[in-house]
Amino acid sequence: MSPFPPYRAQVVTPIPVTTAGQRAKALAEAGYNGFNLRANTVTIDLLTDSGTGAVSTDQEAAAARGDRSYAGSDSFFRFREAVSELTSFPHIFPVHQGRAAERVLFTNVLRPGQISLSNTHFDTTRANIELLGCEARDLPCAEAADLDSESPFKGNIDLDAVAQILSGPDSHRVGMILMTITNNGGGGQPVSMANLKAVRDICRRHDVPLLLDAARFAENAFLVTRREDGYAGHTPRQVAEEAFGLVDGAVASLKKDGIAPMGAFIGLRDPELAQRCELNLIATEGFRTYGGLAAHDLERVAQGLSEVLDPAYLAARAADTERLAQLLGDAGVDIVRPPGLHALYLNAGRLLTHLPPSAFPGHSLACELYLRGGIRCAELGSLYLGTFDEHNELVTPAPFELVRIALPRRVYSQAHYDYVAGILADIAKDPGQVPGYRVVDAPKLLRHFNLRMEPLRTPAFTRREARSSRVSPAGSR
Ligand code: F0G
Repeated sequence: MSPFPPYRAQVVTPIPVTTAGQRAKALAEAGYNGFNLRANTVTIDLLTDSGTGAVSTDQEAAAARGDRSYAGSDSFFRFREAVSELTSFPHIFPVHQGRAAERVLFTNVLRPGQISLSNTHFDTTRANIELLGCEARDLPCAEAADLDSESPFKGNIDLDAVAQILSGPDSHRVGMILMTITNNGGGGQPVSMANLKAVRDICRRHDVPLLLDAARFAENAFLVTRREDGYAGHTPRQVAEEAFGLVDGAVASLKKDGIAPMGAFIGLRDPELAQRCELNLIATEGFRTYGGLAAHDLERVAQGLSEVLDPAYLAARAADTERLAQLLGDAGVDIVRPPGLHALYLNAGRLLTHLPPSAFPGHSLACELYLRGGIRCAELGSLYLGTFDEHNELVTPAPFELVRIALPRRVYSQAHYDYVAGILADIAKDPGQVPGYRVVDAPKLLRHFNLRMEPLRTPAFTRREARSSRVSPAGSR
């Protein structure tokens, strides 16, 4: 019997249903950049799983009793207890979101010129490290390079590469090792406990702090119970507790596995480092008992942290992702294998073989999903990860042309995902119809949020325009 979600909807919100003409107009006005779209023109929003999860009645009940005292509020103590039960960190600070936690912690861990090693740094993490004059070096394991391999822990760090750096000329510059669980920048793949323990041993030997970016700690723990020898009998909570127990500290955006609209924490063992972080937090985020969060946010997070570790919830989430992966496989749309939990990463380069990296196949597929189905998602290919010259021409393409479709927690049903699979299957029937794109205008920094694009007027594109809209959401006007 397939797992089902251990909850039912009590409050729902309508989603916009648009015509093909409305979508074409909205996307053109947005400069063919999904980040510029107004959300009321998006039918299925798979841009991110961050801050987009549905809250529970228990979370809202807790939020209602939020204690807004500036200092020492009851909400803080409930928050701290929930995080401390899970992580065992003696020093815990609330922060408004993950990237702020990164800034506060890294400012106090790293000195300019140092290096951070990671399985893969998330983009804000990398930015916070580089802003400090440090280097963020990604060392994904070799299996990660094979998108089709079913290897269970492609989120792991390359242990040989870590050992080599720590015994080479750069060893004195390594300021921290940061393990991202699950590896969002690396196809949403999990990290094994064996890999985490091995890194911990290396860090001990070389006296380098080991930190977690634990945004999706529950999903990583669940995948460990499913895939790692010796963990089948563990609960996700037991695995998560063990993972936090291995490290010196952690940052975690709670907009993902806190199932909260806003929130994050910093957890630390070293009292002296904690004291420095606390000063920085008070100066830049808020007092140590709220850290930039409203009382209701602290309450939602405290409750969310227990709900997210419910094995029935995680099994139902895994079933959603696996089922969608299956449907896409049947339609001939390849993804990064094996599917994780929070997102599927579509192999756009393999689907749109008529488009070279310079025509941005990932971006083209993302635009096509919106134009045909009102589905919003994010490119993870040459547009985002490539390098460009001053005329916005692509110089170095990304290794892969991917599109991430992220699954918000507890939000969409199987019928919504069937619809997404249907639109992708339709695109896959005649991928040559999908036009490439060129960059019209792009800022130097944070380019993918603000750039403007336009479709290349290929013959195929003109044909498609002439046919106008064939597919639109059920009941579209
Ligand atoms: N670390 C990871 C692994 C993340 O995925 C994110 C955010 C952050 C840190 C930053 O946390 O958003 O609370 O400041 N990821 C979102 C995403 C934005 O869509 O993957 P934040």
